[in-house]
Amino acid sequence: MVETKRWNITKNGTNNEKMIIEAGDLLKVGEAVAFPTETVYGLGADATNHEAVSKIFQAKGRPQDNPLIAHVATKEQLFQLVKAVPSYVEELVDTFSPGPITYVLPSNGTCADNVTAGLTTVGVRIPSHPVALKLLKTCNIPIAAPSANLSGKPSPTTAVHVWEDLNGKIAGLVDAGPTGVGLESTVIDCTQDIPVILRPGGISKEELEEVVGKVMVDPALQSAEANEKPKAPGMKYKHYAPEVPMWLIDGGSEKMQITYNQLIAEGKRVGILANRNTLEKLNVEEKISLGESLEEVAANLYDGLRKFKQGDVDIILCDTYPEIGIGQAVMNRLRKAASRYIAE
Ligand code: TXA
Ligand code: MG
Repeated sequence: MVETKRWNITKNGTNNEKMIIEAGDLLKVGEAVAFPTETVYGLGADATNHEAVSKIFQAKGRPQDNPLIAHVATKEQLFQLVKAVPSYVEELVDTFSPGPITYVLPSNGTCADNVTAGLTTVGVRIPSHPVALKLLKTCNIPIAAPSANLSGKPSPTTAVHVWEDLNGKIAGLVDAGPTGVGLESTVIDCTQDIPVILRPGGISKEELEEVVGKVMVDPALQSAEANEKPKAPGMKYKHYAPEVPMWLIDGGSEKMQITYNQLIAEGKRVGILANRNTLEKLNVEEKISLGESLEEVAANLYDGLRKFKQGDVDIILCDTYPEIGIGQAVMNRLRKAASRYIAE
């Protein structure tokens, strides 16, 4: 157990500067510190320091073969970590960074080998959250940072989630309230002539295609039956798991009500996770609203997954969403979190 220092930062607070310097100082001496990004909270450590990076794996219980994303403050710093890249990369960076996108590029070896998990590529991103950017500028080193949750659990979108998972295991937590997008960055492999989405996220396929034309999607993402090995090592692990089993119900409120009634008749305690429109049509007791738009659903999803606790419910039923825009990322995460998919 270590004592986890916690700084409460309001976005426009006057003493932010001092707190960010303190957090940056801990990062510079090789400690692991959690901080907010516009997607989810990250657990950061000096990406050039092998021992510092190993503290991330230890605190999270993360498999060693799963590489981390290096976070930097500027385009120049991003290109300092990689070898020659295809010409479309600069266009992507100019359009979407800072923002919720991670580029997988050929590594030049600047990052420690446990950041890249021994791969020849490195994932790099420039977050747009003002606190993350300030922290990165203050310490002026690339910061390796996975989501700041225990491995397997839903990613943290508030400092409370980070505290639940990592208090006593990390040196510090910069608390700046809820994140924004609520789902992780889009991971895009930029080592070939045509970019490939390895993990859908904050920037959609449609948005990417407007800039670079054709974009492919890792076949492993497209169908559960494809039996393809995902190219982002982390995508093969069980992820985002709530405390109790969750079933995805594809078939609208009617199918949801029928399934609910059956489970209740069997004596089960059932929690419903759904958007406002679906909830309005249901006659159920335990429910959490994910909001209305796809953006709201993305922002509320991980908190919803964490809120249903063992002891309160035996099973969660969740509805499905159209796979357009951020809906692609929402459905990717829901499929991974669910133990069963029920279609009409
Ligand atoms: O929004 C985000 O990306 C957040 C915030 C904190 O920046 N970070 C995040 O990191 O989600 P993590 O470690 O939870 O997920 C990183 C994903 C994993 O699936 C990993 O396998 C993949 O990116 N990845 C990282 N480096 C890679 C590489 N060189 N090649 C292929 N996949 C890579
Ligand atoms: Mg993660």
